[in-house]
Amino acid sequence: MASHEFRTPLSVISSSAGLIKDYSHKLDETKKLKHLERIQSSVTYMTQLLEDVLLINKAEAEKLEFNPCPLDLVEFCRDLVEEMQLGIHTEHTIALHIDDSTQACWPQMNMDEKLLRQILSNLLSNAIKYSPAGSSVDFHLAYQHPRVVFQVKDKGIGIPPEDQAHLFESFHRAKNVGTIAGTGLGLAIVKKCVELHGGEIAVNSVVGRGTTFRVAIPLS
Ligand SMILES: Nc1ncnc2c1ncn2[C@@H]1O[C@H](COP(=O)(O)OP(=O)(O)OP(=O)(O)O)[C@@H](O)[C@H]1O
Ligand SMILES: [Mg+2]
Repeated sequence: MASHEFRTPLSVISSSAGLIKDYSHKLDETKKLKHLERIQSSVTYMTQLLEDVLLINKAEAEKLEFNPCPLDLVEFCRDLVEEMQLGIHTEHTIALHIDDSTQACWPQMNMDEKLLRQILSNLLSNAIKYSPAGSSVDFHLAYQHPRVVFQVKDKGIGIPPEDQAHLFESFHRAKNVGTIAGTGLGLAIVKKCVELHGGEIAVNSVVGRGTTFRVAIPLS
């Protein structure tokens, strides 16, 4: 991986801490707060990056644990959406649609809750990150025997065709991301977690229109 992924936030921390230490008497409260916030967000970024790197290394070494357990999928998805919605306030709306025709007869699902969380939270956070503030993200959940299908659909920047084939490679980012931050690890992690469930992931995207990711996981 590129060492600047770590060096950039470290140099932000170092320069902001240095400024507070050496020029504290000259900085007003607003400026001090700005530097403290920079330190805080760099630490959060690095912690997440480190966790993702450790996770993908583990997955690539085939050492990721897979512990499927009975799961109430509908409740799990409702809770996840509520949790994510709290984190993004009102800038985006996540609309959860649960296929009504099958809701009454959802079978017992065995899934690894931790890995499923990785799959869905990465897809939802991408949909939010790569679409304009104020837009909504559709999250569909359906049971289509013999599998369960998750779809995350946004009206965002889309993915150029030449990047679509490389999305699931570690550190690959599409050429149209502009200044949107990211390391290119999320989808590599998602792919590994889907594979451990024996499932499949597919993408459909049009630049400037939006993107849909579809994950199908067979009943175990
Ligand atoms: N919903 C989406 N809309 C547009 N582009 C997307 C979307 N999801 C993924 N991408 C593209 O795929 C690339 C890889 O996604 P991935 O989630 O792996 O990395 P990331 O979002 O850049 O960083 P992070 O590791 O923080 O998730 C992104 O950089 C972006 O170019
Ligand atoms: Mg991502």
